[in-house]
Amino acid sequence: MTEVATPEHVEPILRLRGIGRRFGGLHAVRDVDLDVAHGERRAILGPNGAGKTTLFNVISGDFPPSAGTIEFQGDEITLLSPSARAKLGMGRTYQKSRLFLGLSVEDNLYLAVLGVKSGHLRPVKLRRDNELRERARDLARTVGLDGRERTLVGSLSHGEQRQLEVGMARAVNPTLMMLDEPASGLSRGERVALTELLLQLDPAITLILIEHDMDVALRVAERVTMMHDGRVIVEGTPDEIRANQTVHDLYLGRGNQSDG
Ligand SMILES: Nc1ncnc2c1ncn2[C@@H]1O[C@H](COP(=O)(O)OP(=O)(O)O)[C@@H](O)[C@H]1O
Ligand SMILES: [Mg+2]
Repeated sequence: MTEVATPEHVEPILRLRGIGRRFGGLHAVRDVDLDVAHGERRAILGPNGAGKTTLFNVISGDFPPSAGTIEFQGDEITLLSPSARAKLGMGRTYQKSRLFLGLSVEDNLYLAVLGVKSGHLRPVKLRRDNELRERARDLARTVGLDGRERTLVGSLSHGEQRQLEVGMARAVNPTLMMLDEPASGLSRGERVALTELLLQLDPAITLILIEHDMDVALRVAERVTMMHDGRVIVEGTPDEIRANQTVHDLYLGRGNQSDG
């Protein structure tokens, strides 16, 4: 008889246990346990300073944790470098944009693709180069920037730049993609477009989204993790989050602190 694995029996793609990160005496993240299932859409919510970005930095390897362990696809990766994690299939964006504004859309994506192939920049053989260029143009299409390949990134709209960042994160062919406040600074229309882009993302890619905008977060996510003062305080479905009194007291009640 064939056994059909149900999601409950499959190990999570990402598992954090007892994760902490201190900066001197400041506990930016403390004692975080987190399980994210394969293909899940997870939002991480919480007020400014809650520790959301630090948690991403610990997961992506940008900062090692001060405590705890991280498993990715069943292997412990707690001490691996960021580039080793990228090769295993982690892609991320940064809250503060890291785009090259003076280069074209295609060149930015090309550099992101190159970064994966070699870890650092070195001359590429011409045939291989054409392949990588083609991949960069494909990525532009997957994030709705077809026709904009030659455009300088500095002259894209804010929303298009955010779309491009999603494309750059996709350059590593991620199985796990982490987006840090992709909707911040966007107009209402741009947020709708970005939400659509996220909803159309390949369902095989696991997505963790830090989002200050409740509308975007609760629309895209299947589960929501709420952080406050470095800790996870609530976890649940979007409906459970909407109905949760702690969430209202700590977050919704004070109004959205984002840049609007
Ligand atoms: N590199 C760092 N050095 C020192 N303190 C930091 C650093 N990064 C974050 N922090 C502090 O850690 C806390 C959590 O920050 P952060 O993770 O950026 O929160 P969030 O993304 O939820 O707004 C804040 O008090 C912040 O000032
Ligand atoms: Mg942050």
